[in-house]
Amino acid sequence: MKLDHCSAVITGASAGIGREFARQLAPRAKLLVLVARRRDRLEQLRTELVARNPALLVNIREIDLSNLEQTMQLAALLTNEPIDFLINNAGVGDHGSFATADPIHVNEQVLVNVLALTALTRALLPRMIAQKRGAILNVSSSAGFLPLPGIAAYAATKAYVTSFSEAIRAEAQGCGITVTTLCPGPVDTEFAEVANRESRGKKPRAGLMHVAVEKVAQAGLRAIEQDKALIIPGLAMKIVMAITRGLPLSAIRVALRFISYN
Ligand SMILES: NC(=O)c1ccc[n+]([C@@H]2O[C@H](COP(=O)([O-])OP(=O)(O)OC[C@H]3O[C@@H](n4cnc5c(N)ncnc54)[C@H](OP(=O)(O)O)[C@@H]3O)[C@@H](O)[C@H]2O)c1
Repeated sequence: MKLDHCSAVITGASAGIGREFARQLAPRAKLLVLVARRRDRLEQLRTELVARNPALLVNIREIDLSNLEQTMQLAALLTNEPIDFLINNAGVGDHGSFATADPIHVNEQVLVNVLALTALTRALLPRMIAQKRGAILNVSSSAGFLPLPGIAAYAATKAYVTSFSEAIRAEAQGCGITVTTLCPGPVDTEFAEVANRESRGKKPRAGLMHVAVEKVAQAGLRAIEQDKALIIPGLAMKIVMAITRGLPLSAIRVALRFISYN
């Protein structure tokens, strides 16, 4: 779908990849609905975007997507708005063994990464189909391709996102709808700081596999316009994923034995 004059919802727009989607879409979009918990961040972003793009309309929704009631309220609200582009980007991770994880944080991952994404898709897809125009960009992760001890629940939520998105794409084919799954490897955002239990608040060092946030957002938006099913930003990640995704589960199990997860 061409993104000029689109009306987009971006979850997790207060930071990282979501904020970058908003910045890159702003010169082309008619309306942006920015969703996150940190209202001050969203207001700051709205001021920045409107200053640069005076014709742009920016609505802010301060929503906690780990709260099912708030998610359903947002979903109901959005069905009354002329949204033709949904970016399900909000996500949280947790680094460490599953048995020692904070149970509330475990639930939060499922609620934000899986439930909210599913509810918003269910709310907006019917109208897109009826209008024969629409796009959904689901931000998954390369972590979703494999069972990953150390980030077990997070990786499983992202496996859901990838599988769900592919199935919705197939169901919506021929309806003028684009569904794309974005599967980044490491990106330099606040994500790892939030996910890392011991060093919460400390910025991790960028590694070889890291891709700049600007490139990740650009790859996602370009993939929507090119109607691509799945995109892994960055050549190094593409190569690593092409190899690992081809491995049989029995070989992966052997490899996992040699890794420490705590
Ligand atoms: N960075 C990476 O290395 C990486 C790699 C692969 C995939 N991803 C995926 O990319 C997406 C964006 O992550 P990021 O790297 O941009 O992380 P980030 O910088 O930590 O941003 C996460 C965004 O999600 C929002 N969010 C988190 N919990 C929320 C909640 N309960 N309710 C509403 N919004 C919530 C945050 O807003 P508030 O805190 O203001 O609510 C923030 O805007 C995620 O789905 C993540 O899984 C990231």
